[in-house]
Amino acid sequence: MGLRLYRIAVVQGDGIGPEVVPEALRALATLQELDSSLEFDFLDVPLGARKYLETGVDLSPDSLEVCRNADAILKGPIGLPDVRYDDGTEVGIHIELMLRFQLDLYANVRPIILLEGVEPGLRNRKQINYLIVRENTEGLYAAHMSGIRRGDLAVDPLVVTERGVKRIVKLAFDLSHKSSGSPIDGRRRVMCIDKSNVLRSYAFFRQKFDEVAKDYPDIEKNYMYVDAMTQFMLFSPERLNVVVTENFIGDILSDLGSATVGGLGLTGSANLGDKVALFEAVHGSAPDIAGKGLANPVAILFATASMLDWLKEQQAADLLRKAIRNALSEGKARTPDLGGSANTRQVGESISKAIRGLSSA
Ligand code: NAI
Ligand code: MG
Repeated sequence: MGLRLYRIAVVQGDGIGPEVVPEALRALATLQELDSSLEFDFLDVPLGARKYLETGVDLSPDSLEVCRNADAILKGPIGLPDVRYDDGTEVGIHIELMLRFQLDLYANVRPIILLEGVEPGLRNRKQINYLIVRENTEGLYAAHMSGIRRGDLAVDPLVVTERGVKRIVKLAFDLSHKSSGSPIDGRRRVMCIDKSNVLRSYAFFRQKFDEVAKDYPDIEKNYMYVDAMTQFMLFSPERLNVVVTENFIGDILSDLGSATVGGLGLTGSANLGDKVALFEAVHGSAPDIAGKGLANPVAILFATASMLDWLKEQQAADLLRKAIRNALSEGKARTPDLGGSANTRQVGESISKAIRGLSSA
């Protein structure tokens, strides 16, 4: 078999980014070491709030092109709460949204999975295994940088288009079809989360959801308003299989979902387009713990496994996921957010060790 060489654009990012990203690279280097026909070429893309402070440039055309032409993008969190434009919005989030919009990364897929040996942020232990499929290029965040601010008034419109809704809903149904259904009953179901009782944009989203759902008669469809959904995610998460929603709602629900399975240190995320894809943790740059070795690298490692799925390196993806699960369930590879005392690097090293152990077994 010939060499499988992948060019990976790597953004270290801000805050805990330069602590967790090297652990993802360590895992990839270990996988490469164990498979002589697998090779990664890492292209460093300096992006983030810190970089902006140094250079005055947020997203250069060169950085964007490196990302566009790579086989995949692996990205640490970007943004620092004090680095803002004059209008009060953050530079880091501008860069993040520009990457998503310019590269048309329309689907943000966020698996919410309760792992063996992890204490969930819920009173009763539940089986949790579902996907949040967040529309990533329109919705309320499409208003970014184009809202109106005049005197004592500010307006940000919420944008949804037929094409935008249909392509994300279709992906949600396709992912449900490929899944093994919800943990409670094995039923495949896609739940549309909106606020269509109040806003026309969300009512439109739901109508388009219904139109796409007609093509998937074998998959159950249902709906919930986002306010009720917050309770459902805490009380009945075992009923969920795939959740599809607008950008802003999906942003908020994914942090809540992460909390139900042990916190932001654990959940990874894939930002998918038709040609390009970017993989990152759900969490941000966590300035409160940055530079102390306290950051949990598991979230970006799960994102790295999703990247391997995207590259169709299924064996490596499965091996990495299994290694993360084994290292976590053994109990030693836990940072303080999971009640452990290991540092970022020790967790990364345990996972690489688990990869080696599994591949020689
Ligand atoms: P955050 O996700 O960075 O942190 C929220 C809380 O979770 C903090 O207490 C933090 O310590 C904890 N946490 C996050 N990741 C963790 C990890 N891997 N291990 C252990 N604990 C972890 O959210 P926050 O504070 O609202 O945002 C900080 C910055 O990150 C802001 O500038 C924000 O705009 C940016 N951000 C960037 C994102 C991205 O690049 N995709 C996503 C979200 C926020
Ligand atoms: Mg978020």
